[in-house]
Amino acid sequence: MYKEGPPTVSNPVIVAIDGPSGTGKSSTSKAVAAELGLSYLDTGAQYRAITWWMLSNGVDVNDQAAVANAAAKPVIESGSDPLAPTITVDGVDASGPIRTQEVTAAVSAVSAVPEVRTRLVELQREAAEKATAGIVVEGRDIGTTVLPDATVKIFLTASAEARAVRRAGELQAKGPADLAATQAALVERDAADSGRKTSPLAKAEDAIEVDTSELTLEQVVECVVTLVEEKRVAA
Ligand code: DC
Repeated sequence: MYKEGPPTVSNPVIVAIDGPSGTGKSSTSKAVAAELGLSYLDTGAQYRAITWWMLSNGVDVNDQAAVANAAAKPVIESGSDPLAPTITVDGVDASGPIRTQEVTAAVSAVSAVPEVRTRLVELQREAAEKATAGIVVEGRDIGTTVLPDATVKIFLTASAEARAVRRAGELQAKGPADLAATQAALVERDAADSGRKTSPLAKAEDAIEVDTSELTLEQVVECVVTLVEEKRVAA
């Protein structure tokens, strides 16, 4: 590939993957990071972790001032291996508890509090700086706010039906009533995440939108990997 002179050291590649729940963000982000040899950060897991800490420590998640006052207290650490990502709160493994219904129902309220966002955005930027080869960061505001200079910005979308079917599958939901309830909860959470004042769920102007409704995970991963490779060559 290098026809003349020694190879130059390339800049770390930063891939921002945003979008609502159930679009395949996590599976895609981990697979892209693994394939390209990059670090991985799930920022949703961090918002869930701080929410779990609030619930476990008796903080009323609907009291904005109480959440803001406590925002600096928990120590949140994310492991960046895409094949085995980890998350701890005050040194305790939080990967199980952050996926409970209780946390899912409270996370939008906690993540709307500006002090929470300031705290976590700082951690997210530190993680990106530390990743010498580069990193895939998934969330809702990565391309718009956290890493506006990312090398590649992807915005994943999918129909509400496709997202509900995927999420219900993850939750091992059974019948049509479960599916309808999953879809309603998902639409409600997206509305809260898109409607909040501080860095809402939004597509960056320069993000590439990929509708995953009719695509397999492998197809989405191939599409994103190709986009990253193209950018790397162009750079
Ligand atoms: O990706 P997830 O469903 O695990 O995210 C959980 C919640 O965290 C989501 O409802 C909104 C919030 N979130 C956010 O506000 N900003 C991010 N960058 C990532 C997640």
